[in-house]
Amino acid sequence: MAERVKILVTQKVPDPAYPLLEAIGDVEANMEEGIIWSYEELLRHGAGHEYIYCLLTDNIDARFLEACVVGTPRLKMVANMAVGFNNIDVDAATRLGIAVSNTPGVLSDTTADLAFALLMATARRIPEAERYVRAGKYKGWGPLLFCGAEVHGSTLGLIGAGRIGKIMAKRASGFDMKVIYYDVYRLSPEEETTYQLTYMPMDDVLRQADFVSVHTPYMPSTHHLIGEREFHTMKPSGILINTARGPIVDENALARALQDKTIAAAGVDVFENEPAVEPDLLAMENVVLLPHIASASLKTRTLMATMASDNIVAHYHGQRPPNIVNPEVLR
Ligand code: DGY
Repeated sequence: MAERVKILVTQKVPDPAYPLLEAIGDVEANMEEGIIWSYEELLRHGAGHEYIYCLLTDNIDARFLEACVVGTPRLKMVANMAVGFNNIDVDAATRLGIAVSNTPGVLSDTTADLAFALLMATARRIPEAERYVRAGKYKGWGPLLFCGAEVHGSTLGLIGAGRIGKIMAKRASGFDMKVIYYDVYRLSPEEETTYQLTYMPMDDVLRQADFVSVHTPYMPSTHHLIGEREFHTMKPSGILINTARGPIVDENALARALQDKTIAAAGVDVFENEPAVEPDLLAMENVVLLPHIASASLKTRTLMATMASDNIVAHYHGQRPPNIVNPEVLR
């Protein structure tokens, strides 16, 4: 029987995650719902644990990781409860022999659902129209009242056709949309047929799409992938949807593009410097703003939470964590 370990959980997560961890160790957890530890607090709590269960709001950088390997016990693994892991310096973790895991797959459908909801809400101006009704401004049906963009039969352009992008294409097929995509990795002809996806260079996607939906991971090569030049490449009637990561889109350039009508509208679930939002965006009607909730159904968040625990438990038992990001540390 392996010895019990010390585990840190940095934010309150769905309940089923805890008993899995408690079965193998002593759990120190931030149980205050909605309270995100600052970097300094994270540093204060971090050292002295073999396992850290963290969230995308935690900056797990080289300095933090180094602080967690000096004492005893030494940090062995960081389990992120998110598919994206741009909050973790994976190179530093690998150098220090620390395993990193994420939670892919279980959130793909839910995230695509929200991306499509955002597309619909933005095209049909739903939040704006709802605010109008609540403000008591609705005085009767009007032929021009809240006319928005057509969704069915339009062209959806995917920037990134991984798990979530492909499901987005499936959602779009129900609306008779044509789906074009760009990805650094072109899909196989079989997959292009299955998802009815047409590959083209990124600028052609931007030029032809009525809706451009971003589904790439965030990494140095995707920083500001969509900026001023790309907005000028899009149609003036074009709508941008971002449920991936904020810094993939240049948020200042987005605000300018919406202000001067370079593009028509945007729906965004993620921001460049979360939780801060570019103030100009807050004042605009042609942008729908959400607080990073694409995977936020209770069922999906519970699956993510238990998956993060399962990764830790597998590592503890000497098995390969099912969602290891840097498998080279296991050799
Ligand atoms: C992720 O998992 O990376 C999402 O952004 C939050 O679910």
